[in-house]
Amino acid sequence: MSPVTLSSAVVAALIVSGVVGQSTYPATPLASKRFSYPTGVPYKADSDVGLIRGEQAGYNQCNSTTEGQTSLCQTGFINSIDDFCLWAPSKINSTIADTEGEEVAWCTKPGRGTRLIPANALQGVQFMKTPDYIQVVGFIDQAMINIQTGDSGGELDPHGADLRGNPMGGLLYTQQFNTPSGQWTQVIEWHNFMGGEAFCFKACDPAGAHAADYCQHVFDRIGCAYNAPNNAQKGVFESCLGDNQDFPGVYTVNGQAVTYSQPPESLGPIMSLPYQPRVPPSSSCTQFTSASLYTAIASVQASATGTSSSASASVTGSGTSSRGNTKPSGSQSGAGAQTTGNGNGASAGAVIGMTGVSFAGIVLSALLFS
Ligand SMILES: *[C@@H]1O[C@H](CO)[C@@H](O)[C@H](O)[C@H]1NC(C)=O
Ligand SMILES: *[C@@H]1O[C@H](CO)[C@@H](O)[C@H](O)[C@H]1NC(C)=O
Repeated sequence: MSPVTLSSAVVAALIVSGVVGQSTYPATPLASKRFSYPTGVPYKADSDVGLIRGEQAGYNQCNSTTEGQTSLCQTGFINSIDDFCLWAPSKINSTIADTEGEEVAWCTKPGRGTRLIPANALQGVQFMKTPDYIQVVGFIDQAMINIQTGDSGGELDPHGADLRGNPMGGLLYTQQFNTPSGQWTQVIEWHNFMGGEAFCFKACDPAGAHAADYCQHVFDRIGCAYNAPNNAQKGVFESCLGDNQDFPGVYTVNGQAVTYSQPPESLGPIMSLPYQPRVPPSSSCTQFTSASLYTAIASVQASATGTSSSASASVTGSGTSSRGNTKPSGSQSGAGAQTTGNGNGASAGAVIGMTGVSFAGIVLSALLFS
């Protein structure tokens, strides 16, 4: 189904839901709601009651009282390599599929009422700023943020099948689209793939003409490699400037733009795709050590039982700080999407960068429609 026909289907469903009394759809889709941060943020962005998926699991007003590892804060932030959040479950050993509607914000920076990503969970992070979006991609010991080991995960986005978002009521803010003033901007279009010991989170500038295209949410079965083509590497922490990607799902054949049709899950695993995504060139990459970046969360522990199988995971390069060293040039030109070296696990490589049959067959089958 192409994005165009999906949109039509959603519109049709909305009309039907109006007839049957809005048992599924909210009066206002999450992506149509605007709240300025921090003063305009309501207790819950999703105040609907009586809808099929129930009520918003957490809240959006987050403060020093809510901060900590039991926080149900569903307001996230994405600013830089050392200041971002990921959506992940509130309870240990959960799958993304089972909890997509209720994920909470796990962040690298204290002070905003959220949970904090435990020390050493992040095992390689690439932050990228481009003309139309910012993106953070990386590797993570996902059990430390309550994602079941082995879960290949899925997509979180502010739409979802019922337009309430996944998580329902999840809000996202950044200071990166209004520089140098640093004012907070609500990010309207974003997507966050979590799972396979990896993640990618793209936040599109609402001032751009194509925010919904770059942050497309309908290709939820084909992972980071196709939705956020990148060359993030395990063990490497870097912040770069880059060119825009192609719109997810759009590729060129004989000079003609073609939109990929993602088959429904009922047809089985996606065994191959008709194109290889292009990793755009980047430049001005600055590399860091994780120790220098994440000092504020260095003492945050994962909850004991959720991490028994992987508590020993550690990040390389935790010695002296190399923060501020700039690589001489962009080494990131897009020769293929595969991650290189550094021991990526099969599924992490699959979700982040690898393309091809193994990716399609092993990982895609478990990704869910969000
Ligand atoms: C902190 O946030 C919680 C959850 O939204 C809210 O119930 C509480 O009133 C807030 N506390 C203050 C002091 O603002
Ligand atoms: C997580 O849940 C799965 C399925 O319920 C179970 O098999 C596994 O032992 C659990 N792992 C941990 C670390 O609790």
